[in-house]
Amino acid sequence: MRKASQIVAEILEQLAAHVRPGVTTDELDRISEELTLKKGAKPAFKGYKPGEVVYPKTLCVSINNEIVHGIPSGRKLKSGDIVSLDFGVVYQGFYGDSARTFPVGEISDKAKKLLRVTREALYAGIAQARAGNRISDIGRAVQETAESAGFSVVTEFAGHGIGRRLHEEPQVPNYFRPGMPNPRLREGMAIAIEPMVNEGGPDLEILDDGWTAVTADGRLSAHFEHSVAITSNGPEILSELGHV
Ligand code: MF3
Ligand code: CO
Repeated sequence: MRKASQIVAEILEQLAAHVRPGVTTDELDRISEELTLKKGAKPAFKGYKPGEVVYPKTLCVSINNEIVHGIPSGRKLKSGDIVSLDFGVVYQGFYGDSARTFPVGEISDKAKKLLRVTREALYAGIAQARAGNRISDIGRAVQETAESAGFSVVTEFAGHGIGRRLHEEPQVPNYFRPGMPNPRLREGMAIAIEPMVNEGGPDLEILDDGWTAVTADGRLSAHFEHSVAITSNGPEILSELGHV
């Protein structure tokens, strides 16, 4: 899992160099797939079919009001956009999954704050990923970080266990409500923590492509994700660049 997650981290970093005005989201997808195969890994998302519609690409690219699962296309990035790249691979039977939101050219102060707070929400969640804590400790920390900055968390999507499959138990919500499943975290577990934070309200819609989630109010959304192992030394961020 360390190796799979490092491949994800390295490729996300390489993609960052290609995020600029004028690049199409298909180009980013093509680059991510080439780099994946070159490293002896396979795309984790391409061909994935949790419901009715198969996911057709290697990368998820979600721009501005798109929250998650944006499908690469001929659309070009432009200055002032924010773009979330969500990417996963499988390497020797193990999965890695990570996401980051990038600025394209010059972005507004509000957009900068959204990116900073979403990343802080992820790290606040990671800090709670300790043996003995519960899943709710993660969601509570994420939600508190986002809401105290005046933003909202998306509740329709959650993080997840990760390992020999992309999505395993337990679900890792970015909020806490009494009564929700709330297992205790144990040493040896690996989870993907992935806050999606909205500038406005939490409501979303799914586009006709069956995948792209967009904010109902049309305002911005950001997404940061790491694959994290729970160890006797605390959280180990498997998908942090240069971790191993
Ligand atoms: N990080 C996202 C998730 O865990 C990416 C999934 S894309 C999919 O839900 F195509 F695989 F669904
Ligand atoms: Co994920």
